[in-house]
Amino acid sequence: MDSKTGRRAFIAGTSAALLAQAQQQREIKVAHIGIGNRGTSLLKQVLEQPGAKVVAVCDTDPDKRDAAQSLAKRDNPKSYSEYKQVIDLKDVDAIAIATPCDLHAPMAAAALEAGKYVYCEKPLGITPEQVADVLKVARKSKAFLQIGQQLRYYPHMVEAMKQLHQNKAVGTPFVIKAQRNSTATQPGAGRPRPAWYDDVKRSGDLIVENAVHNIDACNWAAQSRPVSAYGHGKKYLPKTIPAGSVMMDGFCVSYHYENDMHLEYTQLYLHPRQMKELRNGQWYIVFGSEGSLEINGGMIYPMWGEAKKYLTPEIENGKENAMAEFMRCIRENQKPFASIEVGAVAALSAIMGREAIYRKRMVTWKELGVEV
Ligand SMILES: NC(=O)c1ccc[n+]([C@@H]2O[C@H](COP(=O)([O-])OP(=O)(O)OC[C@H]3O[C@@H](n4cnc5c(N)ncnc54)[C@H](O)[C@@H]3O)[C@@H](O)[C@H]2O)c1
Repeated sequence: MDSKTGRRAFIAGTSAALLAQAQQQREIKVAHIGIGNRGTSLLKQVLEQPGAKVVAVCDTDPDKRDAAQSLAKRDNPKSYSEYKQVIDLKDVDAIAIATPCDLHAPMAAAALEAGKYVYCEKPLGITPEQVADVLKVARKSKAFLQIGQQLRYYPHMVEAMKQLHQNKAVGTPFVIKAQRNSTATQPGAGRPRPAWYDDVKRSGDLIVENAVHNIDACNWAAQSRPVSAYGHGKKYLPKTIPAGSVMMDGFCVSYHYENDMHLEYTQLYLHPRQMKELRNGQWYIVFGSEGSLEINGGMIYPMWGEAKKYLTPEIENGKENAMAEFMRCIRENQKPFASIEVGAVAALSAIMGREAIYRKRMVTWKELGVEV
């Protein structure tokens, strides 16, 4: 290399490094729409991100707006009650959406259309039409959407998938059994949920609002998507109400996957506190040709050998970094791991299960009529 070429290469290398450094330090201006329970925790997460500035907060409830403004007083955000005004703001790069579930898709689509990066709480939509609409807009947007399925950013989940997919810890996986039970709230105890949760036309029902996290984890473990679902559910307590109007407090769904795997998923808010025979809480077991893997406990059970824990304490106690990843993807112009397609497949899987419960028959992916 002659001295001129060497100098040019050196200058080019230095400019690339400076550009990368400038990208890393670029301020990202964030607006929050919906600052209730979850929105407040997203706001706190954004405030912790280096180079992020909260420039606007929006909620229809003035108390929520005031609380958010005081939480983010370092950044002195403006306050709005109408979300469309926030989407029109020129000095906003990214929008975090944590409104009731029926509003995610229209708000996310409007934000993507305006070229804003979107961090949208799950579920992406509560009907196939909503999911299709937001996907259509996203395909034309210069920005991206990251779905709030933060399980995808937990070190113990990532490690479990590595054990399954790369290390083939269970050989060929066949069946997943997953559960998310909890104890019923005692009458008169506990904090009441916001009213919209109970209205299935707003929340999408328990399977779509809540189990979408767990069903997505199963899709990830299966490396596939379900082709059909069948299930049962209802509101059991304090009196029995058939599924379809009030949010269920229990259901069981069976999924059959494109790759011929099966998932049995149960969510019952009927788990007596003292009952230990069946573990309470969230867990997933993947059964395969050579053994099983339990994701939350981080255990591998070879079919005939000794059980072993594969999680190190560091991984087990590791925190999720979904918001940090959102910021990194904006700065580095990369598609997030919890992409809009992940959100769409998860939401549609949950919707398919819900429709099977409501219609009391098997429902297929094809019937949903959405291309992902
Ligand atoms: N990822 C997670 O772990 C997680 C956890 C809890 C909730 N969530 C999701 O977060 C979302 C919000 O749940 P939540 O428990 O915080 O509910 P919430 O009722 O506490 O918060 C929703 C907020 O949206 C506001 N809002 C309603 N309509 C609006 C509109 N048109 N414009 C602006 N603001 C509006 C409400 O006033 C309220 O403050 C839901 O989709 C829920 O499924 C996700």
